[in-house]
Amino acid sequence: MALQSANITVMVAAARKASRKLKRDFGELENLQVSKKGPADFVTTADLTAERKIFEELSHARPGYGFLMEEKGVVEGTDPSHRWIVDPLDGTTNFMHAIPHFAISIALEREGTLVAALVYNPITDEMFTAERGQGAWLNDRRLRVSARKDLGQSVIATGLPFMGQPNHEVELAELRAVMTKTAGVRRFGAASLDLAYLAAGRFDGYWEHALKPWDIAAGILIVREAGGFVSDLAGRDLMLKTGDILTANEPLHRPLQELLRGARKGSQGVDNL
Ligand code: IPD
Ligand code: CA
Ligand code: CA
Repeated sequence: MALQSANITVMVAAARKASRKLKRDFGELENLQVSKKGPADFVTTADLTAERKIFEELSHARPGYGFLMEEKGVVEGTDPSHRWIVDPLDGTTNFMHAIPHFAISIALEREGTLVAALVYNPITDEMFTAERGQGAWLNDRRLRVSARKDLGQSVIATGLPFMGQPNHEVELAELRAVMTKTAGVRRFGAASLDLAYLAAGRFDGYWEHALKPWDIAAGILIVREAGGFVSDLAGRDLMLKTGDILTANEPLHRPLQELLRGARKGSQGVDNL
């Protein structure tokens, strides 16, 4: 049986409501009927509308809980022990390019600990959920990370910097190391789904730099509840602070960490991890 706790029920309802408009907007983008202002503004509007809907739904269901949201930022609640962490549209570039790979990401923290998580791709209708101590689920199916033990047979996901972002050299060095030692690297463009896919055993490992808490908070719990290891690139439990993430099943986590560390050491760029 899939998770049906009160919190998950509330989160699923909020995500489903917000996803209706996102899906309609995506349909319009696919037909290239974008507003005169261009796709960027169109996407921003879709993003803001989805966030507003999620905010309304969650605040109504759980009055007093605080928020950390990508667009609206921090909203203090009267209940200092609970906080929602929300990315209303993760994978904006995909959305803008009519690539059906994006998600709504919602996590709930209690006293600074992640306790409930949801990542939802409205196009595929894949709903990934997890609750602390209760496992991770894809719709009605229980999730488990992959059992591969050999990097050489593993598919590893990542995210890469683009124009205007720093660290291209260091990340190219990491990419070179991983692509020469594994069965393949994937860059799908939505960090929340990268983590959910890892939890589902589709990817064997995933790493990325410079992420925001709303990109990864929900995915971290989903991976952990599916039996995966999550740390920052230095092996610490500081992902939400450093923005760096490295995740895999237990046998692959350390070898992947060492491979990446070695690559950064050998690169021309600055490695301060
Ligand atoms: C982005 C996606 C992407 C990652 C970027 C994020 P956004 O989030 O998660 O996969 O590589 O660093 O910023 O901007 O689409 O919400
Ligand atoms: Ca994001
Ligand atoms: Ca976003």
